Amino acid sequence: MTSVKVLENIYWVGALDWNIRTFHGFTYSTHRGTTYNAYLIVDGRTALIDTVHPSFTEEMIQNIREVIDPSKIDYIVANHVETDHSGAISEVLKLAKKAKIIGTAKCQSGLQKHYFGDWDFQVAKTGDEVSLGDKTLKFIEAPLLHWPDSMFTYIEKDKLLLPNDAFGQHWATSKRFDDEVNMEILMDEATKYYANILWPFSGLVLKKIADIQQLGLKIDMIAPSHGLIWRSYSTKIIEAYLKWAEGEASDRILVVYDTMWGSTEKMAKAILDGIMSEGVEVLLFRLPFSDRGDIMKELLDSKGLILGSSTINNGILPTMAPFLEELQGLRPKNKIAAVFGSYGWGGGAVKVMEEKLGKAGIEVTAPGLTVKWVPSEDELKRCFEFGRDFALQIKRA
Ligand code: FEO
Repeated sequence: MTSVKVLENIYWVGALDWNIRTFHGFTYSTHRGTTYNAYLIVDGRTALIDTVHPSFTEEMIQNIREVIDPSKIDYIVANHVETDHSGAISEVLKLAKKAKIIGTAKCQSGLQKHYFGDWDFQVAKTGDEVSLGDKTLKFIEAPLLHWPDSMFTYIEKDKLLLPNDAFGQHWATSKRFDDEVNMEILMDEATKYYANILWPFSGLVLKKIADIQQLGLKIDMIAPSHGLIWRSYSTKIIEAYLKWAEGEASDRILVVYDTMWGSTEKMAKAILDGIMSEGVEVLLFRLPFSDRGDIMKELLDSKGLILGSSTINNGILPTMAPFLEELQGLRPKNKIAAVFGSYGWGGGAVKVMEEKLGKAGIEVTAPGLTVKWVPSEDELKRCFEFGRDFALQIKRA
């Protein structure tokens, strides 16, 4: 991939990672790869906004060379410490020996603890500005969106927001702009990104959008550090963030389960039929065949969650444990839940699921449904009614 002109004197100089399939270790599946977006602002002075994953350093430097000699870079704005954005700073500094790094105070200490470099650093606070000539960089601290060091950069002349991870999507494509790609896929990836990365910080998302409005910053374009640049649909993605952060969701239920000998699965399917009898949309996922990150994406826009697990060793199946662990970290708002499962000689799974849902801040609105060994016809009827009653609750919620 070569450099791409974004606006007058602003260039994308990042890299495409077509082959990455998991992100943040193994916590986030990236079925469509990702991009690391770095931007070069060429003015009286030159600024590089973020860099790339260290594996793509040479590719980024080559892209910079297409526009200018890297030794001419005056500033490297580090909006975020995480390695996928800061990983090439050391190498750029070998070429741009006089470049000054700009970031938050937490970014300074974070970079120091990652790279141990004695770098010229300028601490930025909200409202601070650096003039490049015609264009001026304005900085907005954005702590916990999604790390404590995170920061947005804004260019008033172009009404351009460079928010690093916020508004991103993990999608490697040969296109760079929202209006050049399939909007359904783009929003699907943006939804998954929000659910898996920004969901726990929804309160701060709302506050930051309000701060930006209060500062009177007009936004025509949002250039995140992953995925496509929002130039035609920047309003659409801001509205989607507001909706997700407020916890708005559809009348939809997810049934997520695993089964040992098929009894819990029979219960799951009878529950599903009960939900469908009320005309409520439902999605069924069996762990571990279904991808956890994909399920979280679907949960973002669903009001209800029903979890099922057979009992093993007085607890849940080990396949259910990581799902509940992640749910606890994501802290979804405005969801209601119910639980079910079969057991043999002693129960336990239902109680564990109820406890863990409570820790995730999700209200369990019905007594757990259990079946000993294999469900009878009558017990399957109870499962159907369990699903139907939960669907009625969702309609009322
Ligand atoms: Fe894309 Fe928080 O790194």
